[in-house]
Amino acid sequence: MNTPTEIKKVVPGRFVTFEGGEGSGKSTQIKMLADRLNGARLPTIVTREPGGSAGAEVIRHLVLSGMGKLLGPETESLLFAAARDDHVNQVIRPALEQGTWVLCDRFTDSTRVYQGKLGKVDPKLLRAMERVTIGGLQPDLTLILDVPVAVGLQRAIKRRGSAVADRFEEEGLAFHEKLREAYRQIAAEDPNRCVLIDANADQQTVGARIWTALRDHLFSTAAVAESSKA
Ligand code: TMP
Repeated sequence: MNTPTEIKKVVPGRFVTFEGGEGSGKSTQIKMLADRLNGARLPTIVTREPGGSAGAEVIRHLVLSGMGKLLGPETESLLFAAARDDHVNQVIRPALEQGTWVLCDRFTDSTRVYQGKLGKVDPKLLRAMERVTIGGLQPDLTLILDVPVAVGLQRAIKRRGSAVADRFEEEGLAFHEKLREAYRQIAAEDPNRCVLIDANADQQTVGARIWTALRDHLFSTAAVAESSKA
């Protein structure tokens, strides 16, 4: 296993996205990973979608309040795209250009799953929006946190406390089952970029699985690339 110093030598800033259904534990795991990377002196920021920049946070409020639903799935997709455009330009690209690691809670796979597979928005329209908002920017690694729907919804209810359910939390069980299936399909279709993480375990166990995925997909390839230059 690489020591932190060895990792620093061979790994520049990377773009890692976290995906999954409600209550899959993304926020906790992102924070744990950021602490670990920063502890290894790899400068790391945590951000999220929709949101992450001032403009995008305004749109987040709008969409999650249910306003987007009133406008229909296509327009809702445009709102997510507008938020992503601002976030990529204001936060993600500048950080990566400085060699900072970016850990992002949700990114384009969320749009593909929620608006595409579940909202039935035309994939051509979604691809066109992706071209405009992210251009060639793809995550180096996408970790898809997978939990049984009942477990995820229980966790989400507990986390929410007395607050009202947001636009997507309030959807029914069938919606969340389809969501899980759609994520599993994305993971199966793009194994170079995506790793399905079994997140139905305690935080430390899930954290260890995530670290193994990073080691296998990012650190080892960086080390190989570096050693092949020597
Ligand atoms: P969360 O980040 O607190 O999970 O809430 C964000 C919600 O927005 C979540 O239910 C998924 C949804 N969403 C989309 O429908 N499309 C998107 O492109 C993104 C980024 C999120």
